[in-house]
Amino acid sequence: MNVGDERDMTVLVADDEDSIRFVLREALESEGHRVNEVADGESALDALTSNQFDLAFLDIRMPGLSGLDVLEQLRSGGSATPVVIITAQNTMDNAVEAMKRGALDYLVKPFSLAQVSALVERAQSTRNLQGQIRDLQREAEGSRRPRNERLVGSSQSLLEIFKLVGKVAIRNVPVLITGESGTGKELVAQAIHAASPRSDRPFVTVNAAAIPSELLESELFGHERGAFTGAISARLGRFREASGGTLFLDEIGDMPIELQAKLLRVLQSGEVTPVGGRDPAFVDVRVVTATHRNLEESVSAGLFREDLLYRLRVVPIEIPPLRDRKDDIRTLAEYFTHRYAEELSEKDTQIAETTLDHLRNYNWPGNVRELENAIKRALVLSSARVLSPADFDFLADGGLSDRKNSIEDMVERHVRDSLSENDVNNLHRRLIETVERPMLSTVLKFTEGNQIRAAALLGINRNTLRKKLMELEIDLPRKSDDE
Ligand SMILES: Nc1ncnc2c1ncn2[C@@H]1O[C@H](COP(=O)(O)OP(=O)(O)OP(=O)(O)O)[C@@H](O)[C@H]1O
Ligand SMILES: [Mg+2]
Repeated sequence: MNVGDERDMTVLVADDEDSIRFVLREALESEGHRVNEVADGESALDALTSNQFDLAFLDIRMPGLSGLDVLEQLRSGGSATPVVIITAQNTMDNAVEAMKRGALDYLVKPFSLAQVSALVERAQSTRNLQGQIRDLQREAEGSRRPRNERLVGSSQSLLEIFKLVGKVAIRNVPVLITGESGTGKELVAQAIHAASPRSDRPFVTVNAAAIPSELLESELFGHERGAFTGAISARLGRFREASGGTLFLDEIGDMPIELQAKLLRVLQSGEVTPVGGRDPAFVDVRVVTATHRNLEESVSAGLFREDLLYRLRVVPIEIPPLRDRKDDIRTLAEYFTHRYAEELSEKDTQIAETTLDHLRNYNWPGNVRELENAIKRALVLSSARVLSPADFDFLADGGLSDRKNSIEDMVERHVRDSLSENDVNNLHRRLIETVERPMLSTVLKFTEGNQIRAAALLGINRNTLRKKLMELEIDLPRKSDDE
């Protein structure tokens, strides 16, 4: 996203008075901007339509086209370049006319350099906002592209989710989908929409984590023209774009708390008021939300409104992590292999039974997305017709074999268990058991019980080592006589 920092701008100065062009050029170049000069309206329009400028100063009275004419033609051609109209007399009519035609501002001669810098700054923030809005629109277009992805799975938990999707689809009840990243929350939201009576109406996604908070309100509820710097034209907002359909609010847990209050009001009243507008409009939208966060915890931490949580979570759908529904791994792996084989390996690649076993042993921290990407990668890299376990060696250090009992897995199990049992008091002890015991006894075996060498190898003090051995009650292989 194009926030801030490109400070230097390309500026057009159009005035028939040499002295004004000179003063502006000096002021702008001294701040590091690039300046092009022209002395009449036609040349100004030419320059502005054939080159990209970040800002233009247009004298209102020039030979040929006036500054206002240039501005008008520019805007009717769809250009949003910020324009400052310069005038010798301060008349209300001219000022009103300039602003109505979409000028950034109206500057009266003689003007100060401070005024010029202030205008340049405003044009910069406009440019940045426009850039952000453009990026967001592009992103949104991406997310509106119809996807022919299917939700597949054969585990009991997915089966329950399929049933739930069917039940909630036909009624307009708020659904909150939770689950770790990559578990398929967005896909479930799409499935609900596709199975609902609204399926021929829009499915619109807004990701609250991906949009800067100051833009999120207008993204959702729209804005009137000129509601804030950069609001060149009015905007409908995603709520109204989703009219008759489904609005998917992704990463709802990342929505700023002030905006949560506004969202709650919209959900209660069914009415949306655009930023800078006065008249609320009724919208018929089904709202589905998702988050990877634990909203209960966010409520306790004061980051999420409890009333909003109740409102959104009329029906909760929790998607378990992939490692807890290993029955889905075969189905998904075969589905992805089949789906991408043609495109990525140019043949009808299969996946071997032993490979599936191996994939079951991995714990998939990135969930289904990680599995999908792993299969794509294996398809690209392997030249065989059948994917073997070795094609997935990149998944973990040393491959997948026997990862079940790797130290990482054991540590992970302990951390997970103590968190889910809500008992972290024993965690340290368990981790020491898991990590330090094998470390110490292996090194001691290697030094044949010699603690001095063991301490040196481990880079710790010999007394520290002795204390640890006592704590862990490790028996020394009694061969050495260093004690
Ligand atoms: N059950 C499934 N069947 C088929 N594809 C799936 C399934 N679950 C997830 N996927 C695929 O995995 C990828 C990640 O899914 P999705 O984007 O829905 O996850 P998410 O939970 O929204 O993740 P994040 O929290 O990172 O946004 C997508 O490409 C999606 O198509
Ligand atoms: Mg998502």
